[in-house]
Amino acid sequence: MTRLGRARAMGLAVLAVALLGGGAAACTTSGSDASPPTTGDRSTTTSSARPSTTTTEAPTTTTFPGQAPADVAPADPKVADVADPVFDGLGDPRIDVSHYAVEVTADPSKPGISGTVAITLQPRTAKALKSFTLDLKGPEVSEATIGKQAAKVSVDGDQITVTPAKALRPGKEVTLELRYAGTPEPGEFPALGVPVGWQADSLGGWFTMSEPSGTSTWVPVNDHPSDKATWTITLDTPKAVTGIANGRLTSSKVVGDRRQWVWTTDHPMASYLVLAAMGDYDLVQREGPGDVQVVFAFPKGVPEASRKGFDELDAILAFYSDTFGAYPDDDAGAIVVATSLGLALETQTRPLFGLDAVGDGKTWALAHEVAHQWFGDAVSPERWSDLWLNEGFATYADWLYRAHLGEDIDVLASADAGREPSGLAVTDPQAAATFDGSVYEGGARALHALRRTIGDDAFFEVLRTWFAEHDGGNATTAEFEALAEQVSGKDLKAFFTAWLDAPKQPQMPG
Ligand code: TRP
Ligand code: ZN
Repeated sequence: MTRLGRARAMGLAVLAVALLGGGAAACTTSGSDASPPTTGDRSTTTSSARPSTTTTEAPTTTTFPGQAPADVAPADPKVADVADPVFDGLGDPRIDVSHYAVEVTADPSKPGISGTVAITLQPRTAKALKSFTLDLKGPEVSEATIGKQAAKVSVDGDQITVTPAKALRPGKEVTLELRYAGTPEPGEFPALGVPVGWQADSLGGWFTMSEPSGTSTWVPVNDHPSDKATWTITLDTPKAVTGIANGRLTSSKVVGDRRQWVWTTDHPMASYLVLAAMGDYDLVQREGPGDVQVVFAFPKGVPEASRKGFDELDAILAFYSDTFGAYPDDDAGAIVVATSLGLALETQTRPLFGLDAVGDGKTWALAHEVAHQWFGDAVSPERWSDLWLNEGFATYADWLYRAHLGEDIDVLASADAGREPSGLAVTDPQAAATFDGSVYEGGARALHALRRTIGDDAFFEVLRTWFAEHDGGNATTAEFEALAEQVSGKDLKAFFTAWLDAPKQPQMPG
């Protein structure tokens, strides 16, 4: 779905991210115990929670699997990738996908998968579209049709090119059906040192963790956040295995010795937020605040007492709903996958945590990942260079929540708290250092400085309007700056240049 399409239709999280270079890590901890850990405790906790795979040296790679030049006009019908200054080579700006209906068959005991996907899309080009690309890493397509007519598919690295029998008419919706099979190839994500994509947990199950580009390891996809779509995800598993994805479980039918788990999301979702998991899980379902349906997926071995920390979800949802506007989805919850991750991911409706995030009455990063449901998931970045709109906002939301629990937000926002600044401007993330302290704490400090500059009333009105205006769509840093100026009635150009675009941030205004 494009921004225009959505406007027409609607009228209108890390934890602790274990980081690179120098390896300082931040943790957004929100314990449910009365005395949250101090900043010092927190960073200790985090470093010990880092995944063993995390490298402490800055990777030398500066590009993420990409092949296209970044400086091309997105609407040029000859251009095959979204022009994105951070990760190029992802997504095709010439198409607009509105829905994916994917069915994946897999077995915990076998590495291969097979699947079908029906992709509802239309050209975004002014002229007829002869071919377009999708991202796909590992599996191979065996059959492609558009409305019963065969389409040609050729493979080019991590992308496939689809050539319909007849060129697609601008604005006309078609459904591309693909059959595919093979072995997903999760890639190591240089900025975090973790594999992204379809991968094994430590108890013989599978799960996906995909930001920014892992979804294409198990389904052909227009893998850029600027093309959000709704999803129906069917996981066909052995009967005794549980399949989990985003949104609502709309059916789970036994067919012979298999079970088909159908999960549906009606709220547009960026492809990096798609979740699929299968294994030996308990699904814990209950009513949440409002009409929200809550589903937690816990690996069977995780004891009751260790699940308790997730009870804090309701308090977090209530606090953010009051602060930013009503929770954007109909479904909520979380998934804990059976492996230690050292980080967490804001998969839409059902953020993903590792075993290291559970413990007696404690959760780790829950407030951060839940905040992403507003900032990142409901309001998604137009380009990866706008990432601070996710991470700076989720970090700041977590500070607000901790302040609500009694911590001093000025201490949380002080320049020597959290991770070392990396020397990159907030709005200039680099591919190898994307999930960097400058984007997380740097972005959050910029928000705190904005609050100190325009006052609490204007600041919270900016946040609420930001969410209300872009819920379900995408947004840019320039739009945020314009909104802050409009709501506050102040000229903030120099402010934003100093706080977002310069490598070293100024002193926090008093
Ligand atoms: N968005 C995550 C967070 O801040 C961090 C993250 C980025 C991540 N890419 C990832 C986590 C891949 C797991 C896997 O909450
Ligand atoms: Zn985050």
